[in-house]
Amino acid sequence: MANLRKFFGLGLLLVLAGCRQEMYDQSRMKPLAQSDFYSDLRTARPQVEGTVARGQLREDEYFYTGKIGGNPGDYMPFPVTEEVLARGHERFNIYCAPCHSRLGDGNGMVPQRGFKHPPTYHQDRLRKAPLGYFFDVMTNGFGVMPDYTAQIAPRDRWCIVAYIRALQLSQNATQADIAAGEKVPSPSLKFKEPGSGATPATPLPESSYTGDEQK
Ligand code: HEC
Repeated sequence: MANLRKFFGLGLLLVLAGCRQEMYDQSRMKPLAQSDFYSDLRTARPQVEGTVARGQLREDEYFYTGKIGGNPGDYMPFPVTEEVLARGHERFNIYCAPCHSRLGDGNGMVPQRGFKHPPTYHQDRLRKAPLGYFFDVMTNGFGVMPDYTAQIAPRDRWCIVAYIRALQLSQNATQADIAAGEKVPSPSLKFKEPGSGATPATPLPESSYTGDEQK
């Protein structure tokens, strides 16, 4: 009896293993290989007309394009919170500052080494540009500037838009915008006593100073 059970057990195992092997060996195509099965000879099939692939339903047109009826809109598709600005600050410093500089004046490291100088964000035209315009530049590129759709997800692009507007306001602030007693322009940050707020509690060696004391 025990032997019989063992026999069946082994048989089942062999059958199942066979299944797996067959799926493994089934005929399949390598990505983008040629196929004589379809009339256009492509193995990669286009999407069926009138269908939407999972995760690609983009109902909120403004969120994905920054445009309303073909023109850039001038509002954020979600509320701007401190978290949104912090995220925009971080993403901007990673993806935009190499060319536009952390200040947005266009003097980043890449143009200093020969790439075309981007325009400063602190000119009238870009100060008045609608928010959706910045989203569109990141989404489709502009002149020699490449687009950043592959690197930056739509929500993060909007976070950067919010941060750019904050940068513009900060560089064009008047005495009326700030608390009494503070000066415009504010004095540039100095390397103060360690632990005073702008600096870490333990002094860093001179060489590790990044110029980003505000962070
Ligand atoms: C590799 C360098 C580089 C990077 C990185 C870069 N830009 Fe640019 N950007 C440029 C250059 C150069 C121009 C001017 C293009 C031209 O006139 O051909 C420009 C132009 C612009 C403009 C102005 C368009 C106008 O109307 O004048 C905006 C806005 C802008 N970039 C936003 C961004 C944002 C936001 C990022 C980060 C997501 C970014 N850029 C990253 C190089 C860069």
